[in-house]
Amino acid sequence: MRSSLIGSLLLGLAAAAAAAPDFDLQGHRGTRGNAPENTIAAFEKALAIGVSTLEMDAAITADGVVVVSHDPALTPAITRDASGQWLKGRGPLIRSLTLAQLQAYDVGRIDPASDYARQFPTQQAKDGERLPTLASVFARVKALGAEHVRFDIETKITPTAPEETLAPEPFVRALLAVIREAGMTKRVMIQSFDFRTLKLVQQLEPGMDTVYLTVRTRTADNLADPAWTAGLMLRDFPSPGHLVKAAGGTVWAPNQGSLTREDLKAAQQLGLKVIPWTVNDLAVADRFIEWGVDGIISDYPERIRPLMEKRGLALPPSIGPR
Ligand code: G3P
Ligand code: CA
Repeated sequence: MRSSLIGSLLLGLAAAAAAAPDFDLQGHRGTRGNAPENTIAAFEKALAIGVSTLEMDAAITADGVVVVSHDPALTPAITRDASGQWLKGRGPLIRSLTLAQLQAYDVGRIDPASDYARQFPTQQAKDGERLPTLASVFARVKALGAEHVRFDIETKITPTAPEETLAPEPFVRALLAVIREAGMTKRVMIQSFDFRTLKLVQQLEPGMDTVYLTVRTRTADNLADPAWTAGLMLRDFPSPGHLVKAAGGTVWAPNQGSLTREDLKAAQQLGLKVIPWTVNDLAVADRFIEWGVDGIISDYPERIRPLMEKRGLALPPSIGPR
């Protein structure tokens, strides 16, 4: 009697687990709310919290090394030079520095006098952190045994400032070379607001997920600017999902304020996954999970986990010391 009761309970649990959709919890810039963005410290912290994907941004140095950085130039709010001084303004372009030169800069703390510091008051500094190479991030994840973790890597290329980075093709080739060398092809998705790079990924590494980032606010709209979308315009499609599908994408990642339930459902009906960014507000995240988004990109993945648990979504394991 007792064993048949346990048996049916287990069957019920298995059915519930099978029925739960896969949900991709992505730590934004590692976990910017908790640790210095896009550093090894942030990626370790995100793994300790428990995420399924590490979100990060890519740049390429003068000597062709792929590093992780949100901006194509060194950012004053997070960067100190070799003498410990905060940069006074926008720093040198990463493409103008060799990796050795770049390693002189410390990015382990937000300048407390900056507005940026007020945005992330709970971030724990780790002095001495450098902009990591992408290869070193892969190596650290391997060393920690985080086999489940995927990587959502953004090509930080701005079509309106082509002089600041490599052109799309050499950029994508350099990025793919590092991914292949690390044996991570199956665990990486490439994301971009610049759809030219995603088209190149589809040609050079068919089968790799391409994530179409969109931003639609009062002041910015990449879907209305063909320079960003490799010529596509939202006005020619019934919904953003239709545009992403036509472009060959597998994931649509809209800014959180622009996502509607109708657009979400339309995209999912086309077979796309929908993963909004950057969701830090509990009420917004809860609403999106209730709508059935396929994942969430957050600076605070620890805030999202209880919401996932409440709705029976599988939680990614926590890896390493918390
Ligand atoms: O993954 C999407 C998100 O990272 C885009 O915004 O500016 O933080 O790179 P940003
Ligand atoms: Ca990003």
